[in-house]
Amino acid sequence: MKDHLTVVDHPLVQHKLTLMRKQQTSTAEFRQLLREISQLLAYEVTRELPMTTTPIDTPMQEMDAPVLAGPKLALVSILRAGNGLLDGMLELIPSARVGFVGLYRDEETLKPVQYYFKVPTQLEKRLVIAVDPMLATGNSSVAAIDMLKEAGATDIRFLCLLAAPEGVARMQEAHPDVPIVTAALDERLNELGYIVPGLGDAGDRMFGTK
Ligand code: URA
Repeated sequence: MKDHLTVVDHPLVQHKLTLMRKQQTSTAEFRQLLREISQLLAYEVTRELPMTTTPIDTPMQEMDAPVLAGPKLALVSILRAGNGLLDGMLELIPSARVGFVGLYRDEETLKPVQYYFKVPTQLEKRLVIAVDPMLATGNSSVAAIDMLKEAGATDIRFLCLLAAPEGVARMQEAHPDVPIVTAALDERLNELGYIVPGLGDAGDRMFGTK
């Protein structure tokens, strides 16, 4: 994946995203749309996975057929909203290994602090896809990717639903080697750090907490 930022402009992605942005969309609809859109985004972010061939017998004859190569990829959810993207992606890539990164913001320093970190073994040999629906300030995404690199990951992609220009710039500065795949690049962050026009708080909308 050459570009630092890929906006998935497929019509189905854009249509579903519009439904998700709407204030009136219920929690149940939001979850269902997230599951559907995450499969379409998974398709895009895995487009260049390495392939090999394996000999098989079809009912007609033998052939060398294409299969995914190498160790299973690792999906890493940045808690808690990352879990919404993760669920849909696992439907498409059921054999993926899964990790979790939990971060909270220290109210004094405003810096992200790790409270949970559990990732698959042999991270250095896997494609690692970190997932978080909202790339806002980029602080937690940058911190999560710092931790994944410390754990050995070298081939990382970041998948989100919405990105703010501020978050993209922060990621580009801190992790220029990590391509970002998103369904949309929105206008800006507001004074509270929310993406506008955005869709509100992704965690609250998918879990019905508010
Ligand atoms: N996190 C969210 O859930 N929404 C935003 O707009 C920004 C960060």
